[in-house]
Amino acid sequence: MSEESLAATTEATVLAEQATTTVSASLPAGGEHAAAAPAESQAALPRHIAIIMDGNGRWAAARQEPRWAGHRAGIAAVRRTVEETRRLGVPVVTLYAFSTENWKRSSVEVSALWELLSRFLVCERAELREKGIRLVGIGRRDRLPLGPRTALELTERLTSGGRDMLLRLAIDYGSQWAIAEAARRLARQVAAGKLSADEIDEARLSAALLNGPGEEPLPAPDLLIRTGGETRLSNFMLWECAYAELWFTPTLWPDFERATLAEALADFARRKRRYGA
Ligand code: FPP
Repeated sequence: MSEESLAATTEATVLAEQATTTVSASLPAGGEHAAAAPAESQAALPRHIAIIMDGNGRWAAARQEPRWAGHRAGIAAVRRTVEETRRLGVPVVTLYAFSTENWKRSSVEVSALWELLSRFLVCERAELREKGIRLVGIGRRDRLPLGPRTALELTERLTSGGRDMLLRLAIDYGSQWAIAEAARRLARQVAAGKLSADEIDEARLSAALLNGPGEEPLPAPDLLIRTGGETRLSNFMLWECAYAELWFTPTLWPDFERATLAEALADFARRKRRYGA
């Protein structure tokens, strides 16, 4: 699908859907089972899971398929993961879909990623709304091609009433960029006389990085999962993950199943979190 036709499809869909959209400024309640789950299991459930979805290229290479086929299979894993985290009652999930460094990949792969991402945003919109999932993008907007940018903005608008879960897609995202951007926002407030430089502390910077859709601060990730066998953060939520529990698996992202998530959650539930105390 070309960028123009994708944007046109998206515009047509929005007119039909806009009538029923409601705007919410509150944080998600945490899925259909959250209220019913016992307090003990709720305490062990992360309030925010961040995922570095790695291994799509190797998954494709193992099948002698082009890299984009790995990303396409990765989208199926995204669907499974979103469905399962919502079912379990995890209120916030952040997925690393495209990093500021991913522009260095071949133009063929980058275009395929935009195409797949745009289709995901258009095709999943109805389901997200039905399931009460609010989708927001984090990352730079100024470099996004028209198709994914339009699809993202319309999906954000159309799912803005979602109360059960917040799905954050990190697109053209880099944590160092995000920290610099938050610093720029605070600096502008200082320049405007709304804030003094001495008032800038950890809490204020955290809020500037993690502000929710309604400006209500989100919980920082409790659990960071990285698939694909590498054990690094790759410029993903460096500030926000200061106290996150890290969980690495050799499983390639397209093979990430409910059972893999269950393994990560069971491990998380066993961790003793001391926050430096
Ligand atoms: C890393 O695997 C994965 C990416 C750079 C892109 C992730 C994108 C998706 C899962 C699909 C679109 C996402 C959404 C949210 C709809 P890699 O290509 O670096 O794999 P490799 O390390 O095996 O080469």
